[in-house]
Amino acid sequence: MFTTETLQQEIRRLKKENDVCILAHAYQTQDILEVADYIGDSFGLSKQAASAPQKTVLMCGVRFMAETAKILSPEKTVLLSHPQAGCPMAEQLTVEELAELKKQHPDSAVVAYINTTSALKTLCDVCVTSASALKILRALPQKEILFIPDCNLGQWVASQVPEKTFHFIRGGCPIHTRITAGDVATARAAHPEAKLLVHPECLPEVSAQADYVGSTTGIMAYVRENDASSYIIGTENSIVQHLQFELPDKTFYPLSKSCVCEDMRLTTLLDVYNCVRGAGGEEIVLSNEVRSEAQRSIDAMLAFG
Ligand code: 13P
Ligand code: SF4
Repeated sequence: MFTTETLQQEIRRLKKENDVCILAHAYQTQDILEVADYIGDSFGLSKQAASAPQKTVLMCGVRFMAETAKILSPEKTVLLSHPQAGCPMAEQLTVEELAELKKQHPDSAVVAYINTTSALKTLCDVCVTSASALKILRALPQKEILFIPDCNLGQWVASQVPEKTFHFIRGGCPIHTRITAGDVATARAAHPEAKLLVHPECLPEVSAQADYVGSTTGIMAYVRENDASSYIIGTENSIVQHLQFELPDKTFYPLSKSCVCEDMRLTTLLDVYNCVRGAGGEEIVLSNEVRSEAQRSIDAMLAFG
């Protein structure tokens, strides 16, 4: 029988032997982060996927992240750690609906949160992540923006770019939108001294009350650099555990106990083991047409830095 440690040792040996780079989103569990070559948010993972020297990339996260890696590294074998790990938000809009919306807003730049399918990305001008959205929206030459699919991230950006007109369509993260203004009131009352840090996928009435709004790694960087002793964390609850593990002298509270992404939780250390030994995960396959069309919008994002 394996222990966590012996399994991790085997994974480290096999990933070297089989030339596999393990990329892990920060929402993965601690045992997986410990065997990863790179840990980050969606933006960091995209950059890393493009530059990893190994011939195989294993994405421990959700499907759109693995598809982004394949788009950027078509010559590599890209594996998704668990075939059922998707992001529900990525599929909230169909290609047909987006094509129709583009007709209704012909002067708009079509900006897609990276949490979208590759097929949707083929119709977009530029992708953004929560870490890069504000910078890219400010820099885009167009004054009108059709922003898909996350209305909450979109509204958070729009409130800081008042010179542009934004069009939204229904959409949002079903996990982050579980957090309510009532959760903020309860957490603030219980921990009045704590800083409130939230992800921009949260509802506007939640983000409006935060001391800091930012991507997963933005939140982690904020805590590392800030000298407050306690923090209420408004994003996937794995981040609360990672921060508590890394910074034991500080105290971290989840803003809501229901902010748990079931898709991100699907991957286990055993899945990672099976993937590095060539017996698990799902190889991502995209048609050349979809890949090259979708690449334009990801390249445009990376070009903005
Ligand atoms: P980040 O851009 O912070 O990695 O967020 C991705 C995501 O899926 C958050 O729910
Ligand atoms: Fe998608 Fe939300 Fe899960 Fe992130 S937390 S992967 S946006 S469902």
